[in-house]
Amino acid sequence: CGIIGYCGPKPTARVLLEGLKRLEYRGYDSAGIATVRDGALTVIKRAGKIKDLEGIVPQDLDGEYGIGHTRWATHGGVTDTNAHPHVSQNGKIAVVHNGIIENFQSLKETLEERGYRFVSETDSEVLAHLIEDFYEGSLEEAVKRALSLVKGTYGLLCVHADEPQVIVGARNGSPLVLGVGEHEMFLASDVSALLGHTRQVVYLEDNEVVRVTPEEFLTTDLRNTVIDKKVELITWELEEIEKGPYQHYMLKEIFEQPESIKRAMQGRIDEEYATAHLGGLNMTSRELLEVEQVVIIGAGTSYYAGMLGAYVIEQLARIPAVAELSSEIRYRNPVVRKNTLYFAVSQSGETADTLYALRELKRKGARVLGICNVVGSSIPRESDGGVYIHSGPEIAVASTKAFTSQVTAFYLFALLMARMRHLSYEEGLLFIRALREVPERLREVLEKAPEIKALARKYAWVKNFLFLGRGLNYPVALEGALKLKEVSYIHAEGYSAAEIKHGPIALINPETPSVFLVPHDELREKVLSNMKEVKSRGGKVVALCTEGDPDVREIADDVIEIPAVYRYMYPYLMVVPLQLFAYYMALELGRDVDQPRNLAKSVTVE
Ligand code: G6P
Repeated sequence: CGIIGYCGPKPTARVLLEGLKRLEYRGYDSAGIATVRDGALTVIKRAGKIKDLEGIVPQDLDGEYGIGHTRWATHGGVTDTNAHPHVSQNGKIAVVHNGIIENFQSLKETLEERGYRFVSETDSEVLAHLIEDFYEGSLEEAVKRALSLVKGTYGLLCVHADEPQVIVGARNGSPLVLGVGEHEMFLASDVSALLGHTRQVVYLEDNEVVRVTPEEFLTTDLRNTVIDKKVELITWELEEIEKGPYQHYMLKEIFEQPESIKRAMQGRIDEEYATAHLGGLNMTSRELLEVEQVVIIGAGTSYYAGMLGAYVIEQLARIPAVAELSSEIRYRNPVVRKNTLYFAVSQSGETADTLYALRELKRKGARVLGICNVVGSSIPRESDGGVYIHSGPEIAVASTKAFTSQVTAFYLFALLMARMRHLSYEEGLLFIRALREVPERLREVLEKAPEIKALARKYAWVKNFLFLGRGLNYPVALEGALKLKEVSYIHAEGYSAAEIKHGPIALINPETPSVFLVPHDELREKVLSNMKEVKSRGGKVVALCTEGDPDVREIADDVIEIPAVYRYMYPYLMVVPLQLFAYYMALELGRDVDQPRNLAKSVTVE
């Protein structure tokens, strides 16, 4: 979910709606705002997107301060009543909440006994009544007392009709950032909502409560100890979060990849010694040499980037490496060994599954590094070091440019580790030159967009797809299938091309095509055999292969060619056509590309 608060001289309702639009990628099944003017609280909310909400907000609605919310449902269906803000019984307090109140049932029962009536099915409504119950003239006090009874996670904002221009915010497990302006203050779940208003931000930490007025802010913990906060500067530009000439953010971000990959490498390659510099790791050479195993955790696309990262670290640096789902490792009571290095990969840096897994690993004494995009987000702040990928804001819910940059961070790490061990200077240089060439080769691949669009038109009738690859391109096949599912809602399965004969081949029929990834590498022959296995059972084959590969052309029904590159670099050139394919399929089917149903970009609940 996304939350926003504003107090200051600008028209509050407009500022809130504008902020919500920027946060909409965090959830978009319902939205609402609460504003206060002359001691009167007005709440407008409904199921649907921000533009639906905008349609019912009166033009002349104004306020001196207010809060807003865009929802990704957890407790309770998608209805107008379940939308936030939630209002206390006396109609004076409004609350927006991101997170989950675990003990809401027992709190609700106690409050009901005390005469409070609940109108929604959400856990969040408990907060509004609980704060009212504790209110004795200070909203800040009441919020703290209420939160001392709450178990669970929250990023929350709260206003009281009788406390002009005061907003109280609190954070535990769900992000909250304060924007400091001139005679105005903002609170939001991430900095994208603040761009265009202010560059000065303060990141709140767990268990911190902030009270803001247009002129000042005060941060304390639940026991009233004052906490000194540092004001930091945001480096993102407003233009970066605008679509420009592209029809969708997803397309814009796919096309940005030659640049974003370059940014991920910038200043990190050392040609003289054929190695990489990753100062953010905060590790000495000695510590790096002691690493005996690498474990990478992540969710969704970030998990697949980690999987590819693990392959490359193991192959190039000869260090055993695996990727694991954050949600699984956390509850498996994992064994943490002394010389294992962990990476938490996350575009947003806020994914709850990954953040909590990181905490669990750290609790067990692990060293965990972050590979993240959003500067100042929770995962980089709580990790022991890491690599920022500098992709710039990724707005489309389906991740594209973050994937290729996360992969780049792992490639650089693999190079660094390999050069400290057995990799020769020449081999290091070969790797660097090939990596540096990727953006140029990607431009050539992007020129194939019309060809891929035509392919999508041809296959738009299909209900099931298989995506098949091996080795380094196995995680790419998984990512290709995920992209298609996310944005087109077509069922797709990613598999190792070798594995389909052990089961999935039963799915093959003329209506279930397979997309094969066939680069010119050591596994090519094997993949060709797998392709034949599919063809001979009546399956259609779409192949992504290296330019001028006659054998592939002979077997496949449709072919997309990519330039020949050093074997490690094929995943970059393979994943981009798959991103484009998913995009054009979604377009063909009239889907909401940037905001697919049921998804949210940054899932801050478990
Ligand atoms: C959500 C998004 C996915 C994303 C995953 C991990 O489920 O819908 O697109 O890959 O979270 O996000 P992260 O920010 O941790 O990379």
